[in-house]
Amino acid sequence: MLNIVIFGPPGSGKGTQSEYLIKKYSLAHISTGDLLRKEISTNTELGALAKSHIDKGELVPDDVIIGMIDSFLDKLNKDTKGVIFDGFPRTVEQAKALKAILNSYKTDVTIMLNLQVPDKELMTRLIERGKVSGRSDDNEETIKKRIEVYNTQTKPVMNFYKAENKLANIEGVGAIETIFETICEAVDKVK
Ligand code: C5P
Ligand code: MG
Repeated sequence: MLNIVIFGPPGSGKGTQSEYLIKKYSLAHISTGDLLRKEISTNTELGALAKSHIDKGELVPDDVIIGMIDSFLDKLNKDTKGVIFDGFPRTVEQAKALKAILNSYKTDVTIMLNLQVPDKELMTRLIERGKVSGRSDDNEETIKKRIEVYNTQTKPVMNFYKAENKLANIEGVGAIETIFETICEAVDKVK
């Protein structure tokens, strides 16, 4: 399987590049953020728990997120070519759990695409997105917190994949198509 972790701070273009990747490589896609927002909009218990963390820019507990990944993979068609993990893993615990779950399917993460975008640019993009996204966490105060949480809790995930020789740094500033070309070069080398 071709299993891609698309990684980077909030606003780095993970969702956008995922859409291109799904089409080109015929992959399944899981965005944990999108799943959590769906739970919120349908007023589930999980949604209420998620909202209490998301609105503060904090992370939802590992066991909840790992449970979501577990059931997503469980339901996946057996002849799926691969999966894009978007917005997950957010902690080293989650990265370890993902490895264990994928190993139980006799597969592993193939590559981690690390989208690199400066903090200042992230803020500008997310403020712009907030005007149309309707996302309760796309406001200046929560964005600051999300970037801080990324730097403290999520960034260490990079070292996890670096140690596994799976880290590919991608320049995340520029035209969407140019960034996607860089991504494809990295993916085609390992697929
Ligand atoms: O990935 P995305 O930016 O859509 O996530 C939005 C929010 O959802 C995060 O700021 C965080 O509060 C929550 N989240 C999480 N753990 C994940 C993915 C998302 O806590 N693995
Ligand atoms: Mg996203």
